[in-house]
Formats: sequence, structure tokens, C-alpha cells
Amino acid sequence: MTQADENQISEQKLLIDRLPNKLLFSILDNPHESTVIVDSQGKILFMSKSYKKIGVTDINNAIGKNIRDVLPHSKVYRVLETGRAEIAKTIFVDGKDRLVSRVPILSNGKIIGAIGKVIFWEPEKIKEMEKVINLLQGKIKHYKKRLKNIYRSRYSVDNIIGRTPSILSAKEMVEKSSRINSPVLITGESGTGKELFAHAIHHMSQRKDFPFVRVNCSSIPKELMESELFGYEPGAFTGANPKGQKGKFSKADKGSIFLDEIGDLPMELQPKLLRAIQEKEIERLGGRPEKLDFRVIAATNRNLENMVLEKTFRLDLYYRLNVINISLPPLRLLKNDIKDMAFFFLNELKKDIPKDIKNISEEAMASLENHHWPGNVRELRNTMERAMINCEGKIIEITDLPVFLLEASLKHFPETKSSLLFRDQMAKAEKSIINNTLKISKGNRTLAAQILGIHRTGLQKKLKKYGITQNPF
Ligand SMILES: Nc1ncnc2c1ncn2[C@@H]1O[C@H](COP(=O)(O)OP(=O)(O)OP(=O)(O)O)[C@@H](O)[C@H]1O
Ligand SMILES: [Mg+2]
Repeated sequence: MTQADENQISEQKLLIDRLPNKLLFSILDNPHESTVIVDSQGKILFMSKSYKKIGVTDINNAIGKNIRDVLPHSKVYRVLETGRAEIAKTIFVDGKDRLVSRVPILSNGKIIGAIGKVIFWEPEKIKEMEKVINLLQGKIKHYKKRLKNIYRSRYSVDNIIGRTPSILSAKEMVEKSSRINSPVLITGESGTGKELFAHAIHHMSQRKDFPFVRVNCSSIPKELMESELFGYEPGAFTGANPKGQKGKFSKADKGSIFLDEIGDLPMELQPKLLRAIQEKEIERLGGRPEKLDFRVIAATNRNLENMVLEKTFRLDLYYRLNVINISLPPLRLLKNDIKDMAFFFLNELKKDIPKDIKNISEEAMASLENHHWPGNVRELRNTMERAMINCEGKIIEITDLPVFLLEASLKHFPETKSSLLFRDQMAKAEKSIINNTLKISKGNRTLAAQILGIHRTGLQKKLKKYGITQNPF
């Protein structure tokens, strides 16, 4: 027993001394549970009245006798021999299963007695709860497995689209780096797939069955960063969780830690991070160093070399992280991959947008291929999602794409088939809507303008433009 334990016991003893005897007695002697206390020889020191239900007819007479003589089937003496507590075992008493616990009483490492407790609370309820817990545990196991499979398939290299040499060599680096444990630094503009690549490295490595822990260095306030990364011991600082907290590094033990937006890591924390990576040892606030086994994958869209020159990023940390470098190209340099990516997202998004969209028109594809994509692959994915929502047929048309893409396309090819086709289609659609409305209004132009929500003179202009002179009726 440690000094701290001893202190705690003497504090508790003080508290118990202050409790009225009557209260203490009713805790030991209540109708819901039966308590027996024996000394190291098995001599009964206390036995609650409810032992009558278990076949002891004269409780007063039992005190001072050996438990083996009073309750020959009791297993309390076994605890005296083994010193091991037996918690929540079931016994059959009074026609029912009951829960029983037997606990040794120790002092200075010696067994000085034991407590036996029989709980009369209906164990059937506990059994029911046990069933529910087992069922839930089974479900958790099942979902964990499914989640793992989903992750594994989502983050396999097969789901990294691209055949441009720069993407192929980045994918090759993923395969290479998944076989070793050295730190990886992934760089690239926003939306180029840094997180996707980090997951792929982890899920292809031997660490795949252990956690992948992401730390976003830019979103954690500077003051909390240290405790987030390294954790803290109970009572490390005021306002902290009294139980202490595990840091992200501890959570990533045996797995990978993904330090996202590493360029935003405060300068003050950089030496501690460097030490953690080098020594594979972390120090909780207020605690002792702890050896861990983690793999570091870092990512940033900032230029760390420039930051080193500007002295906002430590050179030694940069070298330590940049053992394997994966540099992801912006989408504007992957023109030949846009088609594959667009179809990949089309299929992937069908799970959320269940439409029977089979194709992308030539014009729409040309427009996608010629956009500058400042938001890179993420922007392309979002664009496909919006286009699928807009699309009402089986083919994504240029008119389903967001306006900025149409504008870009018109600017790019002022007289191309795409822009003419677009105008043409818009005109066709407008003409057909006006004709249908005139049918509904039986040729009444004022009513048709009202239905369309436009001014009568506006309708007149359109009729003239589309050459609708005759009353369709
Ligand atoms: N080559 C690719 N093939 C398929 N999907 C990709 C590819 N690159 C990126 N994506 C997808 O694009 C989206 C953005 O990728 P991700 O979040 O990994 O980018 P990021 O570089 O981490 O961006 P940020 O710097 O903004 O955090 C994700 O949905 C990702 O799955
Ligand atoms: Mg990211």
C-alpha cells in the first residue's frame, strides 16, 4: 500500500468515525443485502439479520462461531485462503439465483478477515442487462468491423484517381512509405487530397488496425495545444479535468498521428514536438515521460521552406518531418485526369443522390476540363454534387453546372459549340415554356404573362423574338 493510499484510508476513517453508529449499522444490516464479516480464522464477527433468509435461524448464536459450522456451503473461507476477491458470482438461495461478492480485508499486506455479501436484488434483471450489454457489444464489434472495411476501401490507393505522372509518383510514394515507419510530409494546395493520402498511408501500413489520430494544428487554440498533444496528469493546472487527460500522441499509440496544417504549429511547441518525434517519448503536463510507438504523417499547404527562412518554422523540425515528401499537384495541372475524377465522383455521390445519371455531356466536360479550379479536387467534387442535384435527365449538361463555370467557359471559347449550344438550349426551353403557358391560358396573353410572373410587354418581346405570332389555339 502506498503512502497516498494510507492517507486516503485515514481520511476515510475520520469521515466514518463521524457517521452515527445507527447509520453505519443500517448500512450493514438492511433487508436488501446480507453481510457477514469474519476474522482471519473464519470466526463470525458480524452477521446481518437477513441471513435468516439464507437458513441461519439464530443470528445471535452464530456470532463468534466459525463460518464453516454455521454456513457449511459458504465460500467466504476460500477468500481467506486465496486473498483474491470474488465479485458478482451467482449462487442459488431461497429458490432464486442471487449475486454474491466475497472480499478479503487486508492490513499491511496480511489477510485479517473477509466480508461476504449476498444481494437480494433480483439477478434476473442483471441477467437481462447482461443480455442487452452482450447484444450491444456484439453490435459494436460488428459496426467497428464494418467501419474498418469502409475506411479501408475508401482510403485505398484505388480510390485515389489520377494517371498524370505527378499523381502516379505520389501514389507510388504512398505504397513505399506504407512499408516503413519514417515520418512523411505531404504538401499541396488546399483541396489537393493531403488528408486522403495520409489516410491511405495509414490504411496500407501494418498500423491499419490501430488508431489514425488527426490533429488540426490550426484549429486548436495555442494555449490548449500542448495539453491536447501531450495530455496532462490529474490536477496539472486549475480548470483541468480532475481525472487528467490523454494526449493525442497517447491515443495514437501503435497507430499513426496525422499532424494536419503543421505550418500553423506555434513556434513555442516545435521543440517539444521535435523531441517527441525523435525520442518516441512524450511528457504529459505534470507527469513522467512515457514511451510510445507512433508514426508521424504531417501535412501543410504552406511553404515550410520559406517559413524556415523567415524563422517561423524550425529547421531541425522541418528536416525531421520531411524524411519522405509527397507533393500533391494542383488540379489545374491534372487536366487529363478531370474526366476520370468527374466520373468517379458521379458514382460515389450516387449513394447520396440516387439519380439515374449515366453521362456527362461533351460541353459540360470541356467546361470542367478548362476551369482553373482554385479549390482543387474538393471544388470539383462539390461542383459534381451540385450538378447532380440540378440534373433532371440522364446526362449532366452544361446548364447543370454552376454559373461561374458557364461564365468561364463562355470567356474561354466565345464562339464555340458549347456557348452556342447553351444559348440555343436556353432559347428552346423558354420557347417551349411560353407555348405551353399560352395553351393553358387558351391564347390569352395577359393571363399567360400573369402565370409566368412577367410583365405583358416582356412577354410580347419574347413572342416576337421566338416568332410566336399565331395563337396556338
Ligand atoms: N486524387 C484524388 N482522387 C479522388 N479523390 C480525391 C483526390 N484528391 C482529393 N480527393 C478528394 O477531394 C476532397 C479534398 O481532399 P482532402 O481533404 O484530402 O484535401 P486537403 O489537401 O487535405 O485539403 P485542405 O488543405 O483544404 O485541408 C476529398 O473529398 C478527397 O477525398
Ligand atoms: Mg486537409
